[in-house]
Amino acid sequence: MKVTFFSHSTCMLEIHEKCLLIDPFFSENPIFKNTNFLKKFQKIDYILLTHAHYDHVCDVELFSHKFNNALVISNYEISIFFGKKGIKTYGINYGSFISFPFGKLKYVWATHSSVFNDGTYGGNPGGFLLHTDEGNLYISGDTSVMYEMNLIPHFGKLKLSILPIGGRYTMDIEEAILASDFLKCDKILGVHYNTFQDIQIDKKQAKKRFFEKGKELILLEKEKIIYV
Ligand code: NI
Ligand code: MN
Repeated sequence: MKVTFFSHSTCMLEIHEKCLLIDPFFSENPIFKNTNFLKKFQKIDYILLTHAHYDHVCDVELFSHKFNNALVISNYEISIFFGKKGIKTYGINYGSFISFPFGKLKYVWATHSSVFNDGTYGGNPGGFLLHTDEGNLYISGDTSVMYEMNLIPHFGKLKLSILPIGGRYTMDIEEAILASDFLKCDKILGVHYNTFQDIQIDKKQAKKRFFEKGKELILLEKEKIIYV
């Protein structure tokens, strides 16, 4: 499985030649503003959305317009919102694995909020648990640490967890360390930090804190790749 980090929570997963874009945030993102970011993408098959906040969904229409066969997977309310705009969507909610060509996917609980910029209700926020024959991956979405994370490893051993670490709106470093205990996963890709003034972290210190607990925190520069 190939994971490309763009910035904030935006990642691209490549599994079985399928390209899954997670929470696209470019046009309003200070790191990508005024760049031709769409040119970076040759193919997108799925767009996964964890919740309706603009820093996770603001470019869905742009991407769907360019890649009009891409299927937007999110909670029921978000799928209705984009479905009304003529975008292909697949609405789900908590509670079961659903099979796709890249593997099985489950929408899982997150402790956060979810509303569109225009005030439209964005359903319950969530994360995604992906079980594939290239390994299992957990994307928590914006959330604090929560006891429900203990359930995730019951479904299968994780290779990697993608967790927010910037604090204020989500977990900070110490909460993410606790989350990784709950998840029984020692390899964490940190996201949702340093994009804005109020979610700044010290990257060196963050890595050190994980290392002291026998865990690995991966922090990628923009557009860098890891293979899991
Ligand atoms: Ni959010
Ligand atoms: Mn966010």
